[in-house]
Amino acid sequence: MLNKLLYMETFGCQMNVNDSERIVTMLADLGYGPTNDPASADMILLNTCSVRGGAEEKVYRRLANLRIYKRDGKKQIIAVGGCVAQQEGEELLRKLPYLDLVIGTHNLHLLPDLVRGAERGERRSETSFIDNDQRLDLFPSITGESRLSRFVTVMQGCDNFCSYCIVPFVRGREISRRSADILNEVRQLADDGVREVILLGQNVNSYGLKAGNEPTFAELVRQVADIDGIDRIRFTTSHPKDMSDELIACFGDVPKLSGQIHLPAQSGSDAVLGLMGRGYTRDSYLDKIYKLKALRPDIVVTGDIIVGFPGETEQDFEQTLSLMEKVRYIDLFSFVYSPRPGTKAAELRDDMPRAVKMARLDRLMELQRFHTREISTTYVGNVMTVLVEGEGKLPGQVSGKGDIGRIVNFTGDISLVGSFVDVKIIKAYPNSFLGEI
Ligand code: 5AD
Ligand code: SF4
Repeated sequence: MLNKLLYMETFGCQMNVNDSERIVTMLADLGYGPTNDPASADMILLNTCSVRGGAEEKVYRRLANLRIYKRDGKKQIIAVGGCVAQQEGEELLRKLPYLDLVIGTHNLHLLPDLVRGAERGERRSETSFIDNDQRLDLFPSITGESRLSRFVTVMQGCDNFCSYCIVPFVRGREISRRSADILNEVRQLADDGVREVILLGQNVNSYGLKAGNEPTFAELVRQVADIDGIDRIRFTTSHPKDMSDELIACFGDVPKLSGQIHLPAQSGSDAVLGLMGRGYTRDSYLDKIYKLKALRPDIVVTGDIIVGFPGETEQDFEQTLSLMEKVRYIDLFSFVYSPRPGTKAAELRDDMPRAVKMARLDRLMELQRFHTREISTTYVGNVMTVLVEGEGKLPGQVSGKGDIGRIVNFTGDISLVGSFVDVKIIKAYPNSFLGEI
């Protein structure tokens, strides 16, 4: 019985969104049902991200705002999970007397125990990393109610240590889940009516490479594609250096594989890529994009770019703009570099004025808006097959995603949810399409 209320906020990446889904399921077993109202919640949980700066301060500010709900005499648990929890640990408990729980990125399996303890008034922080051989059995199994599109974790952690990135420090070493577990999970999801799976990991391309006799990621994709009932496969996120020819080939002959790929370049300059420790060059990145486009001419590419990395010159930045011209991303996530504690890049001299970084970000975003508009308007008049997932933006509309991952809203009956519908695109918006059956 759900007789208590959980209020949760999730920040950051899809890994966190997935962890939050798991948290909801685990806490339902303890009697917590979700609420949107922190005032009435028995437990407030922030699932945090620390990939860019300001994250810790944001969490402290948010907690300070939320603590007003924990008025004297009211038994309310306040908890922090995710990467800021991992990074700050005990320190959070010391600084914030009203905080009850800190749950690190390897410790979600302890959540029921921690919450039961907190209900008895205990305050705890659990942030120790778990050895890889034990972690294999702690991978999330199927969570949440059956929906149409589900994440399936295939690997966790990262060993790349790109010089700017805090992820290897807060998510720990890379580990691949057993393929048999993954395939069993996908089969069960298919039995439950799921039509699309999103294979999830910090760097899915290196799946299995360190695990001996497990399949490569490309082989895994083919095995997932063989499962009846699953009609569409996506994956995220990819590292260009591990994007093998074998995986690229899947885009040519696995029709279930979505026509969209997220392939973060981070920069278009070899000098900056070298300083970032990315392990590929501008040309080898572009080579992979051209190969993908040769096999799937209609593939759409999304990416991530960091501007203002220490030492980035105007020429380096222009190389990034020229890379964008060559790739033509449909959407691009762009960030101003922010130094993260403990990373190699944080030790580099960074004397570029903030105004220069912001001006570069503006130029980049303007070019991207232009590309997004140009590419998305080419779909107007075309028919797209949409997996209908729920109600649309306006009354009477339903909404879903086409093969390229963009949201399509169109007038239609709610009974269409769960089916693939051919929809004609009639208008392109910056982040979505309007269509008609
Ligand atoms: N500063 C700015 N952006 C960063 N990212 C990761 N670390 C940093 C940082 N220190 C960006 C990268 C990555 C995305 C998830 O966040 O572009 O792909
Ligand atoms: Fe960070 Fe690089 Fe690992 Fe991605 S591959 S999580 S950017 S260290």
